[in-house]
Amino acid sequence: MASVASLSASVQQRVSAALAAAVPSAADADPLLRRSDRADFQANGVLGLAKKNKANPRELAAQVVAGLPTDELISEIEVSGPGFLNITVSDAAITDTLAARADDDRLGVPLTADPGTTVIDYAQPNVAKEMHVGHLRSSVIGDAIAKILEFEGETVVRRHHIGDWGTQFGMLIQYLIEHPHELDHSPADTDGEASMSRLNRTYKAARTLFDADEAFKDRSRKRVVDLQAGEPETLALWQRFVDESKIYFYSVYNKLDIAIQDDDIVGESAYNDMLVETCRILEDTGVAVRSNGALCVFFDEIKGKDGEPVPLIVQKADGGFGYAATDLSAIRDRTGNLKADTLLYVVDARQALHFRMVFETARRAGWLTEEVTVKHLPFGTVLGKDGKPFKTREGETVRLVDLLDEAVERATVVVREKNEELSDEEVAERGAEVGIGAVKYADLSTSLGRDYVFDLDRMVSLTGDTSVYIQYAFARTQSILRKAGAARAVARPELPLAPAERALGLLLDEFGDALAGVAETYEPHKLASYLYAVSSAFATFYEQCPVLKPETPEDVRENRLFLCTLTGRTLRQGMTLLGIHTPDQL
Ligand code: ARG
Repeated sequence: MASVASLSASVQQRVSAALAAAVPSAADADPLLRRSDRADFQANGVLGLAKKNKANPRELAAQVVAGLPTDELISEIEVSGPGFLNITVSDAAITDTLAARADDDRLGVPLTADPGTTVIDYAQPNVAKEMHVGHLRSSVIGDAIAKILEFEGETVVRRHHIGDWGTQFGMLIQYLIEHPHELDHSPADTDGEASMSRLNRTYKAARTLFDADEAFKDRSRKRVVDLQAGEPETLALWQRFVDESKIYFYSVYNKLDIAIQDDDIVGESAYNDMLVETCRILEDTGVAVRSNGALCVFFDEIKGKDGEPVPLIVQKADGGFGYAATDLSAIRDRTGNLKADTLLYVVDARQALHFRMVFETARRAGWLTEEVTVKHLPFGTVLGKDGKPFKTREGETVRLVDLLDEAVERATVVVREKNEELSDEEVAERGAEVGIGAVKYADLSTSLGRDYVFDLDRMVSLTGDTSVYIQYAFARTQSILRKAGAARAVARPELPLAPAERALGLLLDEFGDALAGVAETYEPHKLASYLYAVSSAFATFYEQCPVLKPETPEDVRENRLFLCTLTGRTLRQGMTLLGIHTPDQL
């Protein structure tokens, strides 16, 4: 394993040194290096530095250039505009750097210098309830972030904070006591859809009875008390609802091609034993106070529409604990027991206020210290084509499985049209990889906070910023390599590069930088747009730089095959980190 410094990092280092030589007080001035259309890179840092030192920017830039002789890395450097530096790297440096990447399993991507432990809270559906598009976003985004952080060398602890606790379980359990065969099925029946329909039926029946029958309502309320007290028979019945739901969750995650481990499902119920203590500490330390019987935390800056302060309620007046008490206990567990130094929450933007109040409370209580980074990564809403939150024609929330099935169906049509020789089995497999990939990519390529329209026609399109486009670029690299037969892929640093080869090469070199950017800001869309850029650059390369044509000289062919190989590896690795398959053939 050998990490490779990117060309941009190497150039940055040279320019920094030259800046420091020109202005000794600027030892750590940022040269502000960017990729540029005019040359390969542009450094804008001279301007600010000149201003600070009351120097003429163009003169200072010229001085920096004088201190930067062209060498095997930098082939050309010139001052432009008010004092920018335009920098071109040599073709040999590009090919050499890419060859070093190709030699490494990790494509030369370094591990983070200073890894820590990140607990990421994502993919948190609710027991006895259908999964909807909101759960899609949390799962897809969380899975990608977890994979990218792990690839960077961070220790990642996954937590699926499922909704498996609360007063509604009193009603469900009581109903099951009075209708004991409601959830029965043969042990061989592991069909997730069947599980969900049993749960749905039970939920609806219990709800109807609860609303109509006062005596049942009473028995249900008593059942909540038994559940919270851990009464064994009640707990055993509660467990049946959890187990039944897990069959369903696993079937959906399987379809979504997201691996969920049982040990990482640590739902709300897991913190039950901590709730009393959490509240006691908050009350003893004065962080929370009693207000009309409820235990509340107040915030100066958080007020409702009427101007009255909106408190975080940790315990209700009737003694019941809510969502906030559980989240506070989970923070105690994650920082205290799991020793996390970063806590991430991939949760709907509508819960932003909840998390703001929970984090602030945990800070006051000392459960979150300066050393711990905590972030709610809020995501926007999935919209229908009408621009309103995605609903069925009947106005109900859309079932996630229905969406996924439809995506796979559409993608299967595309796959079949594209390739008529495939067997039915291959079509089905690739249809799933393309369809699920399309849904994931549409989600991941939108920046987190933004809403997006769920438009399957666009998602499975072969053109535009879609996963299919990237999968297609990958498949094309593999098809060239297959057709190349005995021809070898060899990096040829002695060869000059065509513009399309340079453009592709410079992009391939940026893979590690793109990943580092995602790991720093938790924005997977940056990786998505990077992979799309690589795919577009590859399409141009494919058009302009024939690989296998007989007139292509052998050394040029070898170098082009090398670029195809590295493009394929980069796309596959990147897509894997987004949780998307890259079939060898499309
Ligand atoms: N189960 C919740 C929902 O479906 C999301 C849980 C988010 N995580 C948390 N720690 N509160 O809305």
